[in-house]
Amino acid sequence: MRTIIGLDELRAARLSFNGTVGLVPTMGYLHEGHLSLIRRAKAECDNVVVTIFVNPTQFAPTEDLSKYPRDLERDLSLIEPLGVDLVWNPTPEIMYPTGYQTWVEVEAMTRPLEGSMRPTHFKGVTTVVAKLFNTVQPHKAYFGQKDAQQAAVIRQMTRDLNFPIEIIVCPTVREADGLAMSSRNKYLEGKDRAAAPVLFRALSAAKTVYEGGERDAETLRRKMKEVLDGEPRAQTQYVSCADYDTLEELDVIKGKTLLSMAVLLGKTRLIDNFVLG
Ligand code: PAJ
Repeated sequence: MRTIIGLDELRAARLSFNGTVGLVPTMGYLHEGHLSLIRRAKAECDNVVVTIFVNPTQFAPTEDLSKYPRDLERDLSLIEPLGVDLVWNPTPEIMYPTGYQTWVEVEAMTRPLEGSMRPTHFKGVTTVVAKLFNTVQPHKAYFGQKDAQQAAVIRQMTRDLNFPIEIIVCPTVREADGLAMSSRNKYLEGKDRAAAPVLFRALSAAKTVYEGGERDAETLRRKMKEVLDGEPRAQTQYVSCADYDTLEELDVIKGKTLLSMAVLLGKTRLIDNFVLG
C-alpha cells in the first residue's frame, strides 16, 4: 500500500493501474463504517484508492474543523490489512491553492435537512468530491447511507456533470445499541453516549408504524418526534419524511422514502436515517 500526498504522484499512480478503480473518499479517523466501504470496493474493483482529507470548505467558520479528530497512523494501520492499493492524503494547499475560485454547487436538494442547518456545507462536499473524481478518475465511488443527503446530492451531481462513475451507497454500520458509527461519536460523553441510541429507537418506531400500513408522512414525523422528546438530553433539530431521490418533504408516502433526523446531545450533533420501501 502506497501513501501519496502530491498531485503529480497521484496522477502517475493512477496511470499505472490496470483494470477498474474504486474510490472511497473519507475525512479519516476511520471506523467500521468507513472500513465497510473499503471492503466493498475491494470486493468489486481491481484497484482501490482511499482518500483521507479533512475538507475545510465543508465546515462553516463556527463548526469543528480544528477539533475534527485526526490520527493518520491509526487510519493507515486499519486500512493496510484490507488490501488497499493507494491512500491519497493531500494537504489543504494542494486541494485549494492560493487564488482558488471554482465551486460545484447542487441547487434545490441541498437546501432542506442538513442544508437548512449548514447552508454552505454541501457546496464544500460537492466541490471536493468533484475534484477527487477528476483526479482519481474511478469507475466506482463508495459512499455511506449514514449521510443520506450527501449520497443523494452526489448521485445528482454525478448525473448532472456526466461523470462516468457508478455511485455505490453502502448500508449504515451501527454499534450494538443501534447508534450509527461516526467519527464524531468520540465527543459523546457518559450520559450523552447512553442517550444516543434514541435516534435509532425513534427511526425504528416510525418504521414499525409504516410496516403496520400507515402512509401519512406527518404521522411518521410525529412518531419520531415523540420518541426523541422522551429523551430529555436530546434536542431535536429536524425530523423528516421525504422522497428518497428529491428529498422533498412528503404528505403521503408512495415510493422509496427517507426518514431522517438531526439531534443535539450536549454539544454533539448526530444525524441518522432509515430508508423505507
Ligand atoms: P466521512 O465523514 O469521513 O465519511 C466518509 C464516508 O463514510 C461517507 O461516505 C460516509 O457516509 C461513510 N460513513 C460514515 N459513517 C458511516 C457508517 N456508520 N456506516 C456506513 N458508512 C459510513 O462524508 C465525508 O467524510 C465527507 O463529506 C467526504 C464525502 C469525504 C467529502 O469530504
